[in-house]
Amino acid sequence: MKVYITTAILTIVLLLSYIGYSQQFWQNSTLPVDEEQQGLNKQIVINFSHVVAEDTPKGQAAIKFAELLEQKSNGRIHVVIYPNGMLYNDNNELKALQNNDVQMIAPTFSKMTKTIPSWEVLDLPYLFHTDEEVENVLNGRIGEQLLNQLNHVNIKGLAFWNNGFKQMISEEKPLVRLEDFKNIKVRAMPSKVLQTQFELLGAKSVNTSFDELYTEIENHEIDAQENTLSNIYSKGFYKVQNNITLTNHGLLGYSVLMNEDFWNSLPQKLQEDVLSAMKEATEWNFQMAKEMNSNDLEKLKKQDHIKINTLSVAEQNKWKLKFKPLYSLYKNHVGATFLKEIQTELNH
Ligand code: LMR
Repeated sequence: MKVYITTAILTIVLLLSYIGYSQQFWQNSTLPVDEEQQGLNKQIVINFSHVVAEDTPKGQAAIKFAELLEQKSNGRIHVVIYPNGMLYNDNNELKALQNNDVQMIAPTFSKMTKTIPSWEVLDLPYLFHTDEEVENVLNGRIGEQLLNQLNHVNIKGLAFWNNGFKQMISEEKPLVRLEDFKNIKVRAMPSKVLQTQFELLGAKSVNTSFDELYTEIENHEIDAQENTLSNIYSKGFYKVQNNITLTNHGLLGYSVLMNEDFWNSLPQKLQEDVLSAMKEATEWNFQMAKEMNSNDLEKLKKQDHIKINTLSVAEQNKWKLKFKPLYSLYKNHVGATFLKEIQTELNH
């Protein structure tokens, strides 16, 4: 009986030891992580909404960024792009970003000036003369300071992208002399500098969102607009407006923005991937913007009904003089700091 009880106890002890060993109860090592179960391997989706066509400097840069980020994050981040304002337009995309309904947008900085008034500096006509100047300012120290202005509004600023210089396009008559603007209706983006720019010329500024612009031109609610050649071509504005004047008077560029809570929720490694993809996409965008605008100019020249005008140096000087008060307006309204910094950087 004693032998029987001893054998039974020994068997139980051995059995428990075996179970303990096989389940690694005695080991001090950390347990393997079930990444699948904890959701660590779950794909993160960034919804990126913008208002222009895919075949534009912004549309292409968004695609490039999505590809680069998927590669760099080994597929952990998937970027879904919604072009052409199919999800949100100029009037509601910022709110959608702040509500995290989309995680990224890239509005023209002029459209952000109600939120960040200092960015009006980038709208000043004839501040920049070449694409290189634009790149130095937007991609350098000043660009970083301008992006940091977003810290006050809980938005993560990732970069500035470029589209290019704006030209004038009109339906009835070409806009070359200052008098040509008298009493016409010109579309202006919602920026104090841009709206005043046309009022100084005796025109009426009309604020229209990009997605409604074509229809308003077709309905003759707008006589003229300023835009880049890539937007004029890709949106087909040249089908309803046939006079282009190559003025290169102002810059059209973008702030690339991310919802800040979403940004903060990303693990550090993925934040690094986002920044690295953005840096490469941004360099690529500046190069592409130049090429696309010059290719689109060639395509526009081939349209029989399009008349392309240029400004003589004398005429351009008159435009510059007329726009001078905008610089004081900006300084009085916002302050001189950024303007001075940019002028010093550009040696103007
Ligand atoms: C416009 O409204 O004309 C532009 O800002 C559109 C864009 O995003 O390039």
